[in-house]
Amino acid sequence: MEIITLCANKGGVGKTTIALNLAYALKQRKKRVLLVDTDKQCNLTTISGANSIKGKKTILDFYKGAKLSEVITTTESGLDLVPGDKNNDETEADSFYKAIKALKYDYVIIDTSANINELTRAFMVISDRILIPLKLDILSYQGLSQLYPEILDKKIGAIVTMSDLRTKISQLAKAQIEQFCKAADITLYKSMIRQSCAIPESFLMGAPVMEYAPKSNPSIDFENLCNEILIE
Ligand SMILES: Nc1ncnc2c1ncn2[C@@H]1O[C@H](COP(=O)(O)OP(=O)(O)OP(=O)(O)O)[C@@H](O)[C@H]1O
Ligand SMILES: [Mg+2]
Repeated sequence: MEIITLCANKGGVGKTTIALNLAYALKQRKKRVLLVDTDKQCNLTTISGANSIKGKKTILDFYKGAKLSEVITTTESGLDLVPGDKNNDETEADSFYKAIKALKYDYVIIDTSANINELTRAFMVISDRILIPLKLDILSYQGLSQLYPEILDKKIGAIVTMSDLRTKISQLAKAQIEQFCKAADITLYKSMIRQSCAIPESFLMGAPVMEYAPKSNPSIDFENLCNEILIE
């Protein structure tokens, strides 16, 4: 089992989008995948279409004593999900780690909140791999080094998201990011997730973009990213 946590010290960089689509891509490769929404915004729960599931339990029910297997919901796309909860103020992940080990998943993908809070740090500690999305902004990688104490012993991967290399400034930002990742010994995946309105559309549809628009640019990019992660 591999636990992968999406995190960033900037909001709105594509964590939730990557969590959902990476899970979908892994599932298409017959991997057993569990998605976990630790964010109080519950965006992952919403965009995976799980909000409409009647009587669903949430991550908070787990922390209050429910069995993890009873909390897991299956979305319309066939993805297993621990739904988020707007009242989730928990700060530990050890009980979650114990419970997850008993279930037979190949991959557990954790989506976290916009800011790095105590719960995110706890999930980082139990993770094997940390994925950090980066937009092509100058200085987008600044502050990354602040993450280090929690993730020193982890595989760290950076993913460029919402990319549009037509402007000079984004090419410059890409060069900066490449330089930074090399110096910091962070894997920078070759597959960049291109900007496309298919992503917000897929949010509206409550489905991964890979299901909603399988031939769109980001869907192709997610396929490639999944391959890179699998062979690493
Ligand atoms: N490749 C893309 N092309 C176009 N829009 C995108 C792309 N990826 C994400 N977005 C849009 O950017 C916004 C932020 O994406 P997302 O919610 O995945 O980021 P996040 O890091 O999880 O945000 P938060 O920090 O609030 O949790 C969303 O409106 C989403 O539709
Ligand atoms: Mg999010």
